[in-house]
Amino acid sequence: MADWALITGASRGIGRATAERFQQEGWRVMNVSRNPCTVPGVVNIEVDLAVPGWEAKLAPALRDGPGVGQGRLCVVHNAAAYEHDDALTMDADHLRRVLEVNIVAPLVLNRVVRPLLTEGSSLLYVGSTLAEKAVKGAASYVTTKHALVGMMRATCQDLAGTRIHTACVCPGFTNTEMLRAHLGSDAAALAMVEGKTTFGRLIAPEEIADVLFTCATTPVLNGALLHANQGQVET
Ligand SMILES: NC(=O)c1ccc[n+]([C@@H]2O[C@H](COP(=O)([O-])OP(=O)(O)OC[C@H]3O[C@@H](n4cnc5c(N)ncnc54)[C@H](OP(=O)(O)O)[C@@H]3O)[C@@H](O)[C@H]2O)c1
Repeated sequence: MADWALITGASRGIGRATAERFQQEGWRVMNVSRNPCTVPGVVNIEVDLAVPGWEAKLAPALRDGPGVGQGRLCVVHNAAAYEHDDALTMDADHLRRVLEVNIVAPLVLNRVVRPLLTEGSSLLYVGSTLAEKAVKGAASYVTTKHALVGMMRATCQDLAGTRIHTACVCPGFTNTEMLRAHLGSDAAALAMVEGKTTFGRLIAPEEIADVLFTCATTPVLNGALLHANQGQVET
């Protein structure tokens, strides 16, 4: 009986490392993103989560995936848009696009997979350090990451009695394209970020994948908000 991980945004970064981790543990993996996940054996559903209706393309893969809905299913809500914007000047259409990827897509996916969630299954959310604090110039990201924590807590309550669990893992500065795009090619910005962690280095995507796998296989973490950021130096 196959266990499946359904990961959004596994074409690169934390999602890709998570796909590899689950596969190493013998799980089958399905990726949902615009570009494919190149980890051999991963089933790819290539959709843009910003475009409503994407879930229609997922239904056949869930129906035809061998054993989907028989073993455990772990959904990792990982894909996210991180835009530079401002709480006082943000355009409404811009905000709606970010909400579509970061908030609406996880809720739609939860509804699609609900009939397939057997006992021991899990719905995991990838938050951020910015799920509990803010920095300048990231209003839509900060807002949606805070909302994701609320969604995880609501998920926990609405799944009570089902033995399906949920958690939100909040990575710190992780060495991925998202962070590199955010920092640009500025060596000083990288040094500043590294200096903000108590270990003085970026987190490897595989370290976050380890935490996500632990959450998937540890039901006592139900409703948990986990900061996986090495401890950040506050100034
Ligand atoms: N890296 C960090 O320092 C850090 C810190 C805190 C939290 N996080 C969180 O960790 C998660 C993964 O981030 P990452 O650093 O691994 O980012 P990444 O390397 O930029 O990867 C983002 C993934 O999301 C997918 N994605 C983005 N927009 C999408 C869309 N419209 N439709 C479908 N897929 C979409 C991308 O796939 P396609 O482009 O192929 O569609 C990609 O696979 C995110 O939730 C992020 O907020 C990261």
